[in-house]
Amino acid sequence: MLRLARRLLLALAAGTALSAVPAEAQPSFPNRTLTVIVPFAAGGPTDTVTRLVAEAMGRDLGQTMVVENVGGAGGTLGAQRVANARPDGHTLLLHHIGMATTPTLYRRLAYDPVGGFEPVGLVTEVPMTLVARNNFPATTLAEAVAIIRRDQDKLNYANAGIGAASHLCGLLLMSAVNAPMTTVPFRGTGPAMQELLAGRIDLMCDQTTNTTEQILGHQLKVFAVTTQSRIGALPNVPTSAEGGLPAFEVSVWHGLYAPKATPPEIVNRLSQSLQVALRDPRLVARFRELGTEPVAQDRATPAAHRAFWTADIAKWRPIIQAAGQFAD
Ligand code: MLT
Repeated sequence: MLRLARRLLLALAAGTALSAVPAEAQPSFPNRTLTVIVPFAAGGPTDTVTRLVAEAMGRDLGQTMVVENVGGAGGTLGAQRVANARPDGHTLLLHHIGMATTPTLYRRLAYDPVGGFEPVGLVTEVPMTLVARNNFPATTLAEAVAIIRRDQDKLNYANAGIGAASHLCGLLLMSAVNAPMTTVPFRGTGPAMQELLAGRIDLMCDQTTNTTEQILGHQLKVFAVTTQSRIGALPNVPTSAEGGLPAFEVSVWHGLYAPKATPPEIVNRLSQSLQVALRDPRLVARFRELGTEPVAQDRATPAAHRAFWTADIAKWRPIIQAAGQFAD
């Protein structure tokens, strides 16, 4: 009995000692390596953007930010990993427009595609390009459209699964030309690019962060950029409107997320670090080489990100419902 009382007293004393620890000695944030999940395979556009952001944020936070690729199911496997992670700010998600389309496209997810996350800030909006294998028998968008309308599902079109940017861009293209192609899904457009370069895939719509260098290296055909005006990295590539498809316009916004219930002071510290990263000259220069640029600083905030994300979910919901194509 005496021994138990003694142990309880010691435990109480230890507890008192711990509670007397001054606030500044509480574990600071970040207090260990951080992990940012990319919901697509390595080597693709999301991976490219994330590695540049992770390197710059790691410098600012004073901790390594490891990039982990969790591909599959149009990006939902990676998103689910973060939705289920400890909300301590050390596990993050960098994802794109798929966060706005998944809530409508996927009706039976094992996680909450909106309520499972705290938006930290927007990162960048990346143009897309319609590209083809190098020996595809077309030079202009009009010629490519004529072949798509003639050959239809004899042509194979690569994407990264339902809900991926390459899937949405394909939806817009096929509805604009009113011709279905055979879709070949990959765990990301990184692996898809390898098949396109090998001539085993006919066409793909992918972000300039994954196509600019191949286009400038004449390794594949390019027919259009899906923005209202031409982009500095690819000045000779016409817009889809110039090529006769004004409805074929889409840009891929990216955002950074923490799990739901991550403390606001940690979310705000992450947002501050993201803003520092988006001002980093090395990141800005590399983004420009790849046809994109960081968002303005006032968009890299939790409030701006949440407002934009909420509006984009509402924008895509009727479009997807009208198409009647769902993932499950
Ligand atoms: C990727 O990073 O592989 C792409 O973003 C996939 C996609 O959304 O098309």
